[in-house]
Amino acid sequence: MRTVRTIAEIRAALAEDGRVGLVPTMGFLHEGHLSLIRQARAECDTVVVSLFVNPKQFAPGEDLDSYPRDEARDASLAEQCSADLLFAPAQEEIYPEGFATAVEVAGLTDVLCGAARPGHFAGVATVVTKLFNIVAPDVAYFGQKDAQQALVIRKLVRDLDMPVRVEVCPTVRDPDGLALSSRNRYLSAEERGYALGLNRALKAAEAAVAAGRTSAEEVLAEARKQLEEAGIEPEYIELRSAQDLTPVERVNGSTLLAVAAQVGRARLIDNTILTGDA
Ligand code: PAJ
Repeated sequence: MRTVRTIAEIRAALAEDGRVGLVPTMGFLHEGHLSLIRQARAECDTVVVSLFVNPKQFAPGEDLDSYPRDEARDASLAEQCSADLLFAPAQEEIYPEGFATAVEVAGLTDVLCGAARPGHFAGVATVVTKLFNIVAPDVAYFGQKDAQQALVIRKLVRDLDMPVRVEVCPTVRDPDGLALSSRNRYLSAEERGYALGLNRALKAAEAAVAAGRTSAEEVLAEARKQLEEAGIEPEYIELRSAQDLTPVERVNGSTLLAVAAQVGRARLIDNTILTGDA
């Protein structure tokens, strides 16, 4: 595997390289990221992993400066998964002085994490657009862990006719159910215990739906009970259409249950898709 840092280098490296798969990341790779790289490896001729902690998706006061970074470790993990290229640009390579453009996906970004983090998804959409233009992937891989992000990117690609297929891969969890996240690094052992409440809330909702209870109110009450027991005050816990994030009164077909909570220093998110009776 080769690490490249400039747009010119990555473009040169990718000329005539068959089907190109891109896995965009902010690094500090874990099994969730690696599952995307492996999927790309299985489906593509050339696998590019990008590593860029994107300042535009962090609001002032968020964890941009303390976001965990370890490029050497990331390079070694990407190489173990047989990635071909690690694209690790400097900030000035992506946002040279005078950079003035933003890509905004309306609607989908007003709710859930978008409501809590104004500007976040514009930062994501802008950097992902740039990465797509730089790498020109045939397929790009994202995680269901960030369900709203995946929807925003699908919409971006559709609305702007980007010639890339978006693949969304399942959430990878620790054996105790905690969704893997680079931010789990911030959790103390005790906080990690509380954080398990997020997954328990999703499981309780799944169990309620499996038992035939589909009213949003009832399902959310079951989930909230688990959060309370874990001592977690959610930033949000909501049921929305898994297709377009419109609110739902009843779990029906494909419904996203999404939760976000601050646990210690870590802002954690998790979600599950509830099907209910169609
Ligand atoms: P980052 O948080 O590093 O995540 C990179 C990719 O890994 C995203 O598509 C994310 O959904 C996926 N991922 C994270 N945790 C996962 C898990 N437990 N299971 C499966 N997939 C998981 O998301 C970003 O970076 C950035 O917003 C980015 C898209 C790179 C733009 O800057």
